[in-house]
Amino acid sequence: MSKVDVLLGLQWGDEGKGKIVDVLTPGYDVIARFQGGPNAGHTIEFNGIKHVLHIIPSGIFHEDKLNVIGNGVLIEPNIFKIEVEALKQKGVDATKNLFISKKAHLILPSHRLLDAANEQAKGNAKIGSTLKGIGPAYTDKIARVGLRIGDITAFDFREKYELLKCQHLQTAHTLNFDIASFTIDGMGIDEYEKKWLDSLNLLKQFRLISSEYFINQCLDEGKKVLAEGAQGSMLDIDFGSYPFVTSSSTITAGVCSGLGVAPSRIGRVMGISKAYCTRVGAGPFPTELFDETGRLLCDLGHEYGATTGRPRRCGWIDIPALRYACMLNGVTDLFVTKPDVMNDFEEIKMCVDYDIDGHRTNEIPFEFNEVEIKPQLRSFPGWCQSLEGITDYNALPQNLLNYLDALEIATGVPVLAVSISPDRKDVLFKKNLG
Ligand code: GDP
Ligand code: IMO
Ligand code: MG
Repeated sequence: MSKVDVLLGLQWGDEGKGKIVDVLTPGYDVIARFQGGPNAGHTIEFNGIKHVLHIIPSGIFHEDKLNVIGNGVLIEPNIFKIEVEALKQKGVDATKNLFISKKAHLILPSHRLLDAANEQAKGNAKIGSTLKGIGPAYTDKIARVGLRIGDITAFDFREKYELLKCQHLQTAHTLNFDIASFTIDGMGIDEYEKKWLDSLNLLKQFRLISSEYFINQCLDEGKKVLAEGAQGSMLDIDFGSYPFVTSSSTITAGVCSGLGVAPSRIGRVMGISKAYCTRVGAGPFPTELFDETGRLLCDLGHEYGATTGRPRRCGWIDIPALRYACMLNGVTDLFVTKPDVMNDFEEIKMCVDYDIDGHRTNEIPFEFNEVEIKPQLRSFPGWCQSLEGITDYNALPQNLLNYLDALEIATGVPVLAVSISPDRKDVLFKKNLG
């Protein structure tokens, strides 16, 4: 009997999860997404081509591996269709090796409308949602009125759909939202809905399964399963910087509820962190840099959202947040990505503690959004050289190795590997994957 290994983000998302999952896929039989939806943008690069996945797991480029969209995930049929078609153009037929849980919930066009209406109603307090309908769709799931993938073949699906849509439109109306002017991809809501309903036909071509049985059976047979997280721990609905979070459980606990596996069946938990830190959307970010260094991180790191194209906010790595994420997830191995972005930096900083009202702390305070946090920074000399062509972890410049050692000590978690370019080939393992 084998266990489910987990790969998830330890910061505010975009740590490089897609790339690392793609690199790890050859060692697994099944790759399964357990939460989130089209708010995610997971980038994979190889052979000079760049692919961005939103709903489909990042194992899809390996033909002989199975991919599963678990019950905890949200599916927007139009976005799903665009993704499937883009893969087809690259020679990947997802219908062959992608299974979908019947219990995964649907994002309706009117969920997306509500997302926009809610954000507008919040005014200055808006979250900076990706506007993919995530919050409203998970709200309906919890309110027990959502529609699931398994419902799309039922005779009364359309009736249920219309009822739910009607409720959404009423709510949007109450929020004084201008429904007539609302567009998605340049289309009014009615035109978008037509396409959305049509896209359901594509979903029906996939194997719609009870993925909890499927995954547990795979484990019973000794198959290796990797759970792929979306977003990051600091965006978790319970432990993130609430309310500036996403609406799902992004941590290891979410694997159990999002795939239907027992806690005792969780194996290795691999956490990813950038060598610095980014955040897209609103909310606290103690180490954010508003100076030239921040701009450099954004430019050199190409820090623009893979889903929305928005510039990401950039800053130094945040150890209190990272330690918190390691604790919540039970991280056993650390992946560090993008140190190459800082190749030309003479000095690199690490926030080791927070100073809040003159008190030094290593904890994320409940009042994270309200208090003024002064990051206590430790300085490291940069390595001031290109990492191009380095293929062995121990051949990395000594100043980078020192920085990685300091990260290990600060988090208490061993570094498993470091990624030094967007390309699949540039992941240097410190030790054998085992
Ligand atoms: P995800 O959401 O966690 O999968 O990450 P994203 O794909 O949203 O953002 C990560 C970005 O960094 C993508 O553009 C990747 O191609 C890129 N990337 C990943 N690893 C590295 C790395 O080690 N170095 C550099 N320079 N870019 C990387
Ligand atoms: P990946 O998987 C970075 C952020 C949004 C917003 C907040 C809520 O690519 O790492 P939502 O649309 O979920 O209601 O938005 O969460 N957010 C992400 N930030 N990476 C992501 O996913 C994100 N998914 C959501 O910017 O601040
Ligand atoms: Mg992303």
